Amino acid sequence: MKERLRDLVKYLSSSIKALSLYPENHPIFEDSIDKLDEHLQDLLKERNELSFAIIEDELVFEDMPFHDLSSFFYSFIFFLEKRKVERITFIKGIDRRELKDFIKVISQDEHTLKEKGGISKELAKTSVTHVVVGKIDTSSAPLTKKKITPKQVYRFALDLMKRVGKDIEKGEEEIETHEAKEIVEQIIESMMWVRSSLMKLIHLRMHDVYSFVHSVNVSILTIAQGERLGLSEDELNDLGISALFHDLGRILIPKEIIKKKEDLTKEEREVVERHPIDGARLLFRTHGVPELCRIVAFEHHIGYDLSGYPKVRRRKLNLAALMVQISDTYDALTSKRSYRGAENIEEVLSLMVKQGGTLFEPRLVRLFSQMIRELYPLNLR
Ligand SMILES: [Fe+2]
Ligand SMILES: [Fe+2]
Repeated sequence: MKERLRDLVKYLSSSIKALSLYPENHPIFEDSIDKLDEHLQDLLKERNELSFAIIEDELVFEDMPFHDLSSFFYSFIFFLEKRKVERITFIKGIDRRELKDFIKVISQDEHTLKEKGGISKELAKTSVTHVVVGKIDTSSAPLTKKKITPKQVYRFALDLMKRVGKDIEKGEEEIETHEAKEIVEQIIESMMWVRSSLMKLIHLRMHDVYSFVHSVNVSILTIAQGERLGLSEDELNDLGISALFHDLGRILIPKEIIKKKEDLTKEEREVVERHPIDGARLLFRTHGVPELCRIVAFEHHIGYDLSGYPKVRRRKLNLAALMVQISDTYDALTSKRSYRGAENIEEVLSLMVKQGGTLFEPRLVRLFSQMIRELYPLNLR
């Protein structure tokens, strides 16, 4: 069913696109309406109506969100949001002519629609009676009330990382892993519901707590990569925790070195470069974390071509470490003053893709850049 609904969204957006490129009697537009009509009729054989809603930037069908990162999905959501459409319902009995009229109305630019009093008013002037467009009645949207908001998840995660940091500084041997697992589960869950909102938080930074923000961001970005690769929920959990703890060893770097603005001396650099080994060591002493955590902490700076640190010889790096390395670099670069600002996301991504094959696993870095670009289409930045 989900695939068929996904196709419906695809046909809707291609009809809208066709009309933006060709006149309304052009065979390409007619053809796209044919496909849309055929598909919709097929879906309406089994039900009396079909309803889509947009809740928190996510397209939802009968309370079931699509976990889709395809660009046509995001463009479609953005298209509807601009026109203030929160819900579309197709009712059984709709015919091709109505469908075509509907696409014609919805394709008007948002300013024209606004001047004319909104989309519902415009539809009322046509023959369309089997499509209802409107706002969401919030009482029927339990989703937004029931779930913890992405901001809350983000806060929880930050809070936890701060506590873990303090514990380690105090010399505590045991890290609170149970809570970390729960947080990662919440990140995964909330990403499935309101992916784009959670991802957008990545670019909101509080610099005083940089390292915690960084860990949480890297976890979110790596889970998103894992989802793209189709990893299972268990695998995503391990991946998320490993990413969350990738820089654990940094806690042992003296604050003066972390804060130092000038170039580091050779000795200081050596101290910094010890954090992957220290992290892995701390995690070896920690019970209940997946083995992957230790591997990722150890390998996240080695680099695809092994040019980083610690120096290893002829070693095939773990996929998770290669993924974390990409999220890690992206987060570090986009938080730099020189790269700050959304327009620079593009610059960072091209820079990183160029390093595919040397610093980064080439396919992973391409996939990553595609993912970020789809989340932040140019017109949304
Ligand atoms: Fe690191
Ligand atoms: Fe890092």
